[in-house]
Amino acid sequence: SLLAVLTVFLSYLLGAIPAAAWVARARGVDIRTVGSGNSGATNVQRALGNGPALAVAAFDILKGALAVGVAAGLNLGQPVMAACGVAAVLGHNFSPFLGFRGGKGVATSFGTMAALLPVAGLGAALLFVLSVWLTRFVSLGSILGAVTAAFVCFVVGPLWLGVVITGLSLLLAWQHRDNVRRLQAGTERRFGDKTGAGE
Ligand code: G3P
Repeated sequence: SLLAVLTVFLSYLLGAIPAAAWVARARGVDIRTVGSGNSGATNVQRALGNGPALAVAAFDILKGALAVGVAAGLNLGQPVMAACGVAAVLGHNFSPFLGFRGGKGVATSFGTMAALLPVAGLGAALLFVLSVWLTRFVSLGSILGAVTAAFVCFVVGPLWLGVVITGLSLLLAWQHRDNVRRLQAGTERRFGDKTGAGE
């Protein structure tokens, strides 16, 4: 329906709000020139500390959850809800406000997955916290969390949703391609470190 198409498009615009870049800019920082250069909560933590990072993470999670929630509230059905969540992630990663660049979609994917299938969000959060706690690599935790969400969805969710969440996880992993290279090279930044080893 036209309402469904409109809601998906508005979800993309909601996801496109670049909280990390704008919060940093408000503090006089160009997020692209700090740390990993990524427009995301992890890099805001490097640039500005825990408070702003937490605010950005919460806002970016909300973008995904709200996109799914609005579609749910409009009774548009599960597939359109999923499309709205995916649209929010695409908006975040490829934002018209940042020249169609953006973040890696970790928080927004989490909000989307948790809203679509809470137990998948729970599995992702558990693996994320455990991995980051043990290794202090946020990137690794993000990838392992995404893989976990897809796995949980294939076990307990409908097959089509497993496919959708796998797609989101593959996109998330692809967005982390530089991080994966750094992890392999041993130069990835650990949480709380301003620079990577060897920089
Ligand atoms: O926020 C995304 C996280 O997984 C990695 O961020 O800045 O270390 O590339 P960053």
